[in-house]
Amino acid sequence: GWQSDHMLATTLRASQRVLVLTGAGVSAESGIATFRDALTGLWANFDPARLATVEAFEHDPALVWGWYEWRRMQVLAAQPNAAHRAIADLAASGREVTLVTQNVDDLHERAGSIGVVHLHGSLQQPRCHACGAGHQLPEQAPREPDGGRRLAPPCCENCGGKVRPGVVWFGEALPSAALETAFAAAADCDLLLSVGTSGVVYPAAQVPEIALRAGAAVLHINPQPQLLGGGREWALAGTAAEVLPALVAQLRAKY
Ligand code: APR
Repeated sequence: GWQSDHMLATTLRASQRVLVLTGAGVSAESGIATFRDALTGLWANFDPARLATVEAFEHDPALVWGWYEWRRMQVLAAQPNAAHRAIADLAASGREVTLVTQNVDDLHERAGSIGVVHLHGSLQQPRCHACGAGHQLPEQAPREPDGGRRLAPPCCENCGGKVRPGVVWFGEALPSAALETAFAAAADCDLLLSVGTSGVVYPAAQVPEIALRAGAAVLHINPQPQLLGGGREWALAGTAAEVLPALVAQLRAKY
């Protein structure tokens, strides 16, 4: 209604410390599949228990390595979209902006964002499953030997271990520094833009809850927004690439 729109404009103008939390929806318009969208979601087409757990990797490293290399190739072939670019532009609005993402793609970085906090790791930083040593990825993955399986490379330090994707799997701890940064920013921000996340995976999903409890204004940018309730909350129903450029333009407008 008018009141909420007027209040929203006032709230946006007054914001000084902005936290942006993104999920798979921000990369959807770059052609990268989300996880839980009906039909197109990765978990509607692949079994996370066979691909996104430590047990899965230890049981069949070639299946898991091949699948993540397939996803990495998709990211290499994709381009940042208007939402990634708008979020990068937000940093020039004279506000303190923190960007926390659940995504493992590097589209925020390729759109110009810096200091991106990756709660669930990154496809670009594989490491040895045994000793943790980093691994340099070839730009182009070799052709699938068969059906998507690809041999997981041996550890660079020759420790006898296999290289795994640098992403956080179900049941694994998130990188503690990233999580602490995200929670601190959630408690300190006066505006949270939650973009393209279903908000069902914890502890990342605590970020909007902390911000709401701390009195921040929380905006959900999502075609199917889910309100948490109990605070200063707005749902901007629409896609990230449609909504964010206009929203950031409003934030950057001189008063
Ligand atoms: N613009 C904005 N939001 C969109 C768009 C779009 N173009 N398309 C879809 N969405 C929304 C969907 O409505 C949904 O709410 O993006 C959200 C995507 O939700 P998920 O697929 O669950 O992705 P995400 O929330 O990032 O998942 C969290 O789950 O599997 C784990 O580690 C994985 O980081 C991931 C985590």
